[in-house]
Amino acid sequence: MQTLKQWDSSASWYDQNMGARGDKLNHDIIRPLILSMIGTLSGKKILDSGCGSGYFTAELAQDALEVIGTDFSPNFIDLCKKKYSGVSNLSFFQHNVSEIMPFENNMFDVALSKMVLQYVEDIHPFVKESYRVLKRGGSLVIVIDHPFKYPSKKYPHLKDYFDKGVQTKLSLWGKVELTWYPKTVSDYILPFIKIGLRLSDIQELPEEKEGVKIPRILALKFIK
Ligand SMILES: C[S@@+](CC[C@H](N)C(=O)[O-])C[C@H]1O[C@@H](n2cnc3c(N)ncnc32)[C@H](O)[C@@H]1O
Repeated sequence: MQTLKQWDSSASWYDQNMGARGDKLNHDIIRPLILSMIGTLSGKKILDSGCGSGYFTAELAQDALEVIGTDFSPNFIDLCKKKYSGVSNLSFFQHNVSEIMPFENNMFDVALSKMVLQYVEDIHPFVKESYRVLKRGGSLVIVIDHPFKYPSKKYPHLKDYFDKGVQTKLSLWGKVELTWYPKTVSDYILPFIKIGLRLSDIQELPEEKEGVKIPRILALKFIK
């Protein structure tokens, strides 16, 4: 599978660049947003799907009751297991979000997926499984690259915002060609609502390009 190879071969490069806290976008912008959406960590069981090099998963474990990170890349999971072997309330499993999750029903207070679903062609299996493993009253927090895109130098193959054709772009600090699957904002919201989750927060963070603000990050919070 193309996306798995791309990510698996990038694990140590990703880890080097993200370090112990994440890069500027992840640490200064996405981190506070997610922490405010999750609220109190104390006493919570948290699932982080697509945990990557695990720096944020590990940060959550400092205050939460238990945190599990999953990723489809064996190299990312090996790396996380090595880095955080001494943390008793933190564990990592290899798992593809397109497949059934190896967890019981109603297990987690929080399910999180940070910067992952744009790389997943069909998010419906993730929607169904996250719903299943979440406790009633639990929160699902999704953060993605904002779907608003237009044909440009950065996205030369994209026809328009509604173009669902598979795309590739040079990513990860200019080193790795990554495959991504364009979706619209409603593609990211409706499946979660249709399964029975309630949308309780939506945040759009901008970036500035040539003096104009354009959407950069989309964060969604749903309650079961
Ligand atoms: C941009 S990184 C984000 C990693 C981490 N959540 C963070 O914020 O630093 C995307 C991650 O999603 C993982 N990923 C992509 N597709 C996946 C899938 N189908 N199932 C599980 N993980 C996946 C990749 O291996 C990679 O670790």
